[in-house]
Amino acid sequence: MANPPSALYPAPSVVLSVGGSLLNDGKPNAEMAKKLAEAIRSAGVPCGIVCGGGVQARKKVERARKKTGSEFEADLAGIKITYKNADALRLALGAEAGPKVFKDFKTARKAAGRQKFIVMGGTIPGITTDADSALLAEALGAKRLVNVSNTAIYDSDPKTNPNAKKFGTMSYAELISLAQKSDARMAGTHFVFDLLACSLIARSRIETHFVDGRDAGQLKAAILGQPHNGTVVRG
Ligand code: UTP
Repeated sequence: MANPPSALYPAPSVVLSVGGSLLNDGKPNAEMAKKLAEAIRSAGVPCGIVCGGGVQARKKVERARKKTGSEFEADLAGIKITYKNADALRLALGAEAGPKVFKDFKTARKAAGRQKFIVMGGTIPGITTDADSALLAEALGAKRLVNVSNTAIYDSDPKTNPNAKKFGTMSYAELISLAQKSDARMAGTHFVFDLLACSLIARSRIETHFVDGRDAGQLKAAILGQPHNGTVVRG
């Protein structure tokens, strides 16, 4: 994205998708938000950041689904929690993250150059914050995405298969094929990056890093596009 002449910062060239699993274990985890904010700030570069929902979102989604019988309403309940998590991270990042969490891509894009960190939660029902992060990267013209969770990509689930093999690098096609296999499995099991998000990074050739966000050094390296112990997906 071109910078306006009045820009204080370059537009972010990297977007982070921060997993709800890290940010919320029943309520926003302030300690983890602080740790993540320190690691993100230490990289020293502007970032777009999308926050997931975590345990609390899953509970609220389930409750809203039972109460309303509407998937749309259930998703809105999930989105509400992503805003709470995003706000906790925004506050931990300080003044350079601006005064608010953004709720749509066009408004978020307008803030590029004016603030160092552009923090979002979810946007519309029917998608996930994985897809939101890929869309924010497209909106900003960012060519690198970092999925910040607690895992790299494996050829099978390492929790159930002790022989699961970790990918150091893989292609978009390989990632899509793995996500498709996992999409066809039972409800409740979910792949580390959803299928829509995989398709979006592939169509815009956004290099995507999967890294353990609990390790500040690993996260910083991924933000800067340096080698790390996770997985890198590229063409
Ligand atoms: P996420 O699914 O993206 O967070 O949003 P998560 O799954 O907790 O994070 P990870 O992947 O496990 O780390 C929580 C819920 O909010 C709704 C969906 O119901 C989703 O399940 N949501 C989120 C939307 O409807 N639209 C969005 O744009 C984002």
